[in-house]
Amino acid sequence: MITGGARGLGNEFCRAFVRSGCTQLAILDLKEEEAKDAADELVATACLNSDLAPTDFNIIGLGCDVSSERSVQKAFAETMDAFGRVDSVVASAGIVENYSAFDYPFDRIKRLYDINVHGAFFTAREAARNMIPQGGGSIVLVSSMSANIINIPQPQTPYNASKAAVKHMAASLAVEWAKKGVRVNTLCPGYMLTKLTKTILSHDQELKKTWESLTPMGRMGEPEDLAGAIVFLSSDASRFMTGSEIRVDGGYCII
Ligand SMILES: NC(=O)c1ccc[n+]([C@@H]2O[C@H](COP(=O)([O-])OP(=O)(O)OC[C@H]3O[C@@H](n4cnc5c(N)ncnc54)[C@H](O)[C@@H]3O)[C@@H](O)[C@H]2O)c1
Repeated sequence: MITGGARGLGNEFCRAFVRSGCTQLAILDLKEEEAKDAADELVATACLNSDLAPTDFNIIGLGCDVSSERSVQKAFAETMDAFGRVDSVVASAGIVENYSAFDYPFDRIKRLYDINVHGAFFTAREAARNMIPQGGGSIVLVSSMSANIINIPQPQTPYNASKAAVKHMAASLAVEWAKKGVRVNTLCPGYMLTKLTKTILSHDQELKKTWESLTPMGRMGEPEDLAGAIVFLSSDASRFMTGSEIRVDGGYCII
């Protein structure tokens, strides 16, 4: 299951899983129609130039607002109805906004924490509730390099704090559930080219150059650059890892 999977990094994670042989997937997103379209598109793409037929896949799109616990519980109930179990859950739904601390309206700060922090918590809690009776599973919370460094020049204090919270949340939950077979790890991307960042960059052409100059590898990441890390963390390949973080940031955090 992937939250925020209709587009952006979440959608790229869906593609990475299917490329790695996954045939059963629930794509959750605030935008239900886009989630359903993403599911159809994923199946169509997977069948291109392959021996596989659409009937080989069970990929569904569901509407879900991760900031509402009730909505998350409903989506998990629908997923369990469709598949009978849930082995891997990726919490990718998240938003970013750039306001200086003095200018940031409180209702928007609250909404950001509701999605980025509480949404990740509701998703992880519901995942573990379903995974523990079946013997375990893997949860990946998508944080950010912003959990480790302060981005410049754009101001985004609540976002940075939300991503640090997600990272520490993953470690805390990992300890709570370690003996129950549920692993919880964090993926921390650097600057990636997705709709989220393209929206920011559309207002500021110089910003991309600044971000690239601050990244040792001299470029922004393509969403596909995260494919190996997300498949590794979500699968048994990482079975002795829990409470860990993988940074994929072109070296941003090392300088
Ligand atoms: N793009 C980057 O450079 C970057 C870097 C580090 C971390 N991240 C993190 O990666 C995650 C995905 O970012 P992205 O760049 O793909 O963003 P995006 O805006 O391209 O996609 C986010 C998806 O989440 C969905 N979403 C938003 N609010 C939701 C809600 N309340 N409930 C369910 N779905 C909701 C959106 O509809 C969208 O499909 C976020 O958590 C973000 O903080 C992104």
